[in-house]
Amino acid sequence: MLILGIDTSCDDTSASVVENGTNVISNIISNQTEIHKKYGGIVPELASRRHIEMIWPVVDEALKTAGVTFEDISSIAVCHGPGLIGSLLVGCSFAKAICYSKGIPLVAVNHLEGHIFSPFLEEPRPPFPFLALIVSGGHTSLYRVDGFSKYRELGRTRDDAAGEAYDKVSKLLGLGYPGGPIIDKLAQNGNPKAIDFPRAYLPESLDFSFSGLKTAVLNFVKRTELSVRCKDISHITPHALLNDIAASFQASIVDVLVRKTEWAIKKEHIKRVTFSGGVAANSELRKRMKEMGEQKEVEIFIPSAPLCTDNAAMIAAAGYHHYKSGNFAELDLNPKAYMPL
Ligand code: KG4
Ligand code: ZN
Repeated sequence: MLILGIDTSCDDTSASVVENGTNVISNIISNQTEIHKKYGGIVPELASRRHIEMIWPVVDEALKTAGVTFEDISSIAVCHGPGLIGSLLVGCSFAKAICYSKGIPLVAVNHLEGHIFSPFLEEPRPPFPFLALIVSGGHTSLYRVDGFSKYRELGRTRDDAAGEAYDKVSKLLGLGYPGGPIIDKLAQNGNPKAIDFPRAYLPESLDFSFSGLKTAVLNFVKRTELSVRCKDISHITPHALLNDIAASFQASIVDVLVRKTEWAIKKEHIKRVTFSGGVAANSELRKRMKEMGEQKEVEIFIPSAPLCTDNAAMIAAAGYHHYKSGNFAELDLNPKAYMPL
């Protein structure tokens, strides 16, 4: 059974054909980084306009790469939230129009549910139950997953998402957008113990908080008299210092994510964890989570980097279960910017 997944929740236009919820036949992603990077973050209006331009070519390429047409598709799974409302509207309107004109059943998928199902697109696949840590630009949440549609949120960020902290710190250091991959790279040549940035462990809670860390980096930069207004401080700052800031900032984020995951494992008595979302592509986080898994005999499932960041294959993977459960969407489906799982 082939599902066509569509995701336009943020700044990537993506379409994918997935067989039986697990086998990725095609996964096309049109990235908008070039458009947004000069602003240091996503400009929602520009994102929606670009989605409008790209949705047809991206869907067309997904079908062509898979060697199929709409006639071969059992269902279209579209992400209807959470996300940027203008961006979501493009994917939802497109999916509804195709479903109406071709008589294809529509299913609606929550973006976070998509991230939970991305580890099923590769071997080995996690058996239920498992803990899912979703760490992206918009979300940092821990879930207990007992099966399809059986999700319980254990904790979430109280302020910035981890990816958002990466992006904001990168912006204040004048390093560019998106910040995650840039800081990840610089950190590889820095000393993670050089600067003692705070770690918000929030005792007794599985919630997260990263806004204090961002402020601590800003204060450090001001104290060391680096000009935060300068467009690119990498020209005036010794590279070694930038590398140390990146490594120390990253160490704080990774320490918190790993520690909180350990707490959740203990609390829920589940020794199986999946990671997804853009920050799960981070090299240090991947390394530390794998080490933690080996030390504590916990099974760790991390999708390859392209399946961690936003993609439509994960929407099709979750959509497959909606289809099998007969959970179809009506053609008056409306996207929502805020949509808890
Ligand atoms: O899941 P995603 O593609 O989109 C959202 O749903 O937000 O995640 C994008 C986020 C951005 O904040 C980006 O800076 C971060 O993921 N990111 C990373 C890395 N690659 C992407 N963060 C840390 N290390 C990386 N290697
Ligand atoms: Zn995402």
